[in-house]
Amino acid sequence: MHAAASAALICRSSFPAVLAAPDRRPADLLTTGNLPFSSRRSFSVNGLKCRVASRDVEPVSTDSEGEYGTPASAAPVYTPTPPNRELRTPHSGYHFDRTRRLFFEGWYFKVSIPDCRQSFCFMYSVENPAFPNGMGTLESVVYGPRFTGVGAQILGPDDKYICQFTKESKNFWGNRHELTLGNTFLLGKGSAPTGEVQPQEFNQRVLEGFQVSPLWHQGFIRDDGRHVLFVKSNYVETVKTARWEYSTCPVYGWGDVNSKQKSTAGWLATFPVFEPHWQICMAGGLSTGWIEWDGKRFEFENAPSYSEKNWGGGFPRKWFWIQCNVFEGASGQVALTAAGGLRKLPGFVENFENAALVGVHYGGSFYEFVPWNGTVSWDVAKWGFWHMSAENNTHMVELQATTTDPGTPLRAPTIEAGLVVACRDTCFGDLKLQLWERNFDGSKGKLILDVTSNMAAVEVGGGPWFSNWKGTTSPPELIKRALAVNVDAENFFPLPFLKPPGL
Ligand SMILES: *[C@@H]1O[C@H](CO)[C@@H](O)[C@H](O)[C@H]1NC(C)=O
Ligand SMILES: *[C@@H]1O[C@H](CO)[C@@H](O)[C@H](O)[C@H]1NC(C)=O
Repeated sequence: MHAAASAALICRSSFPAVLAAPDRRPADLLTTGNLPFSSRRSFSVNGLKCRVASRDVEPVSTDSEGEYGTPASAAPVYTPTPPNRELRTPHSGYHFDRTRRLFFEGWYFKVSIPDCRQSFCFMYSVENPAFPNGMGTLESVVYGPRFTGVGAQILGPDDKYICQFTKESKNFWGNRHELTLGNTFLLGKGSAPTGEVQPQEFNQRVLEGFQVSPLWHQGFIRDDGRHVLFVKSNYVETVKTARWEYSTCPVYGWGDVNSKQKSTAGWLATFPVFEPHWQICMAGGLSTGWIEWDGKRFEFENAPSYSEKNWGGGFPRKWFWIQCNVFEGASGQVALTAAGGLRKLPGFVENFENAALVGVHYGGSFYEFVPWNGTVSWDVAKWGFWHMSAENNTHMVELQATTTDPGTPLRAPTIEAGLVVACRDTCFGDLKLQLWERNFDGSKGKLILDVTSNMAAVEVGGGPWFSNWKGTTSPPELIKRALAVNVDAENFFPLPFLKPPGL
């Protein structure tokens, strides 16, 4: 009780207090020496005290906590999601409107453990949930064949991978207004949860599945072998099972820390004609708990974490993405999210639009570079090289990421073929990020941020990728003007029943 109350306090505290979060480690833990850790040491990332441990465990355990003597400092603390929490962004909720139009929603949660330079990326997706039992023959005839189901993928340490998928979404749930969701792949005692439940209750009711909230994430999944069959030419090492429990303190949403949080893609993202939609839900947070992966247990305290989501009719035709929360060269939390894509505009003609943005959170402030308020340029290779620069009248940002890692093919929900291999990712990108104020003559002025990382997540997706893709955003004038109007999307729908799901 006491622990839960104090953790809730840390989570609710404002930006400086989070940075000053006390080191909760009991002093003797680092010296007892009777625990078979392969690595355990105290270190400091960006001024924060963090610790990580990994050790060999039995691959599958039914007792999810206590058995390994998780030290109090790495023990996750469950806090139910409070209503109207701070740092909640628009579009946190599940956007499914219960109609039969083509629809998917996908969620991404990343935890980076700097001590061992390893990351875990959890990816969940639900496709065409209007058909919760999959498509029957009659439905296929009436509505046309659709891809349906729920997928859980994890890209983990050393680029290893796990994927569990079911064609049925009847045991999936998502809250309409908050970032809480879950799925039961294999039922335990009782019925499948239809909302957030206490961790112990989850473990009883769900043998294989997950539940996630802004403050909590737990689950157990089992690889179903589909990836090995599918990715014939690209050798991917899969992991048989994964189990995890961790709690998260959000530090950044998508906006200045003490302000209202913003929609990532502008207020037009509210309307279904502009698809797919994209929202960064938590640009930066600190997670504490454990993940069992490939016979190893990773324990972490205040590990930098991140979450975002996509929803709509399908993924962009072609895209790239760079995301990083672990940096050297600055104190305090720094979070970078940058991406660009080619998406189809509504209409009869094949009409595509470039969209790109760079978002940096640093020192409690949000630096946002978007096409409707400046220019964003990029030069991205088929694989291995990402360069972006962006500016508005007062600021400039530049970033470059490279990797020699071959990357791992991942799945994304596509209209054409369902949840299939569509992109390539690694969490071992080398990154340089610089942010300046501009002088009156437009030249580079004061350097605000100059940081590097060797833990950037980088991605290219869709295609075709024949050669480098260079571009500068140039949205149609009409869209540009519409987006520059500072409309408050949430208050744009004064009556609750006019509010689209998810907002
Ligand atoms: C340029 O972008 C920065 C970072 O988001 C912002 O603080 C500044 O107000 C913007 N300047 C203008 C003129 O829009
Ligand atoms: C866009 O830039 C203008 C100045 O160029 C600034 O006044 C305005 O606040 C910016 N709008 C947004 C939404 O950032």
